[in-house]
Amino acid sequence: MLKEPKQVLVVGAAAATVQPIVALLQGQSDVQVSARVTALRPLAEILSAAPTTDVVVVCSNDREIGDLEALAALDPAKRPAVIVCGSLTTPAAMRTVVRAGASDLLAELPSSEELLTAVARAPRRALANGAVKPRGSLTVVMGAAGGAGSSFIACNLAHLSAAVIKKRTLLIDLDLIYASQAQFLALKPSRGIAEAAQQVANLDAVALDGYVTKHRSGLGLLARSEGTYLHEPVDPEAFRSVLRVALEAYETVFVDGHRWLDALTTVTVAEADHLVLVMEQSIAHVNNMAQLYRILTQQLGVTSERIVVVMNRYDKHAAVQPDMVVKAVGCREPFKLPNMYALALDSTNTAIPLFEMDAESSVTRGLLALCSQIYGTEPPEPNGIFRRTLAALSTRSHA
Ligand SMILES: Nc1ncnc2c1ncn2[C@@H]1O[C@H](COP(=O)(O)OP(=O)(O)OP(=O)(O)O)[C@@H](O)[C@H]1O
Ligand SMILES: [Mg+2]
Repeated sequence: MLKEPKQVLVVGAAAATVQPIVALLQGQSDVQVSARVTALRPLAEILSAAPTTDVVVVCSNDREIGDLEALAALDPAKRPAVIVCGSLTTPAAMRTVVRAGASDLLAELPSSEELLTAVARAPRRALANGAVKPRGSLTVVMGAAGGAGSSFIACNLAHLSAAVIKKRTLLIDLDLIYASQAQFLALKPSRGIAEAAQQVANLDAVALDGYVTKHRSGLGLLARSEGTYLHEPVDPEAFRSVLRVALEAYETVFVDGHRWLDALTTVTVAEADHLVLVMEQSIAHVNNMAQLYRILTQQLGVTSERIVVVMNRYDKHAAVQPDMVVKAVGCREPFKLPNMYALALDSTNTAIPLFEMDAESSVTRGLLALCSQIYGTEPPEPNGIFRRTLAALSTRSHA
């Protein structure tokens, strides 16, 4: 089937920088190009008047980052793909590029081949009928310090989302060395993140399936493939494209990220709808959480409504309590998740998710409440859904 041409909008503060880029895109059958000068009208207004734009090409430089700021302020779900052409060198400008969700950063005047390749791999935004494509929700989970429980929480949130809330759910593990999610779920991915990122030019929702390993609950896992040792890091921009395809294919995506904000986690943060930050009740964790929260909100432009701080293994007698965290970190009231050492250990040792081990435990119920809080819905009524889901699980395991 012949695809509609991609709608590309070239913007910049001056006509002199916009025109040469437009010239590179004109005459291509698969691209429909238009241009606007943002000195005349703010970019946000231009975009709301052009809702079917698939890709915005922003002509920018270190002194002119206003258009990128305008894109960074948009809801990622409603933002077209962004390609930047220009010389951006300062840390402030680079951070704005990340926050604007740019999928490519090219020279001020790239070759036509470079520009067309970038446009070809940028995801489409609109459906043929002009409606905006539904995009899944993206949640990244990070710990404030090692061993806080973030991978365990990411795994069980994703499992509850798939098994109980019944959403099409994907879990992405950014730990490309130890790959703990595959261990938690007893899965052995034969292909994974690195392979998907290498094939990004041909990746769509159907092709993505070939890199995802399925858990019996229906949960998909995208992780390091079994037995590989990564000689080369995964390209962050290719990973951003993988993430966007995943958000087209799944209703909800959970990412187990790194507190040291490596390149893949930073890309995820820029695209994320929700951030779950996990800590324990110690001064060291409070200090780390305050630092992580500052970087996310002040440098990466994450708004505080998107962040949920979780106090894991919560003990009401510990010295560090929620009011202290609110004061030191500046966050909303933390979510308290109870400590259940033996059950959690059994769950990780046997690679059986918490819900399958004990659907009624306080930590399972706590995680289900957290999952519902993220989705902005009421937690499902335990005495209906738990019994129904457990009945379905036991029928399946006896089949
Ligand atoms: N609420 C809890 N109650 C009891 N045990 C827990 C709880 N949360 C996590 N654990 C246990 O803590 C262990 C370590 O957690 P996890 O591997 O998720 O930490 P992490 O923050 O991802 O660590 P890392 O920094 O190494 O990535 C888990 O295997 C699990 O058994
Ligand atoms: Mg971890």
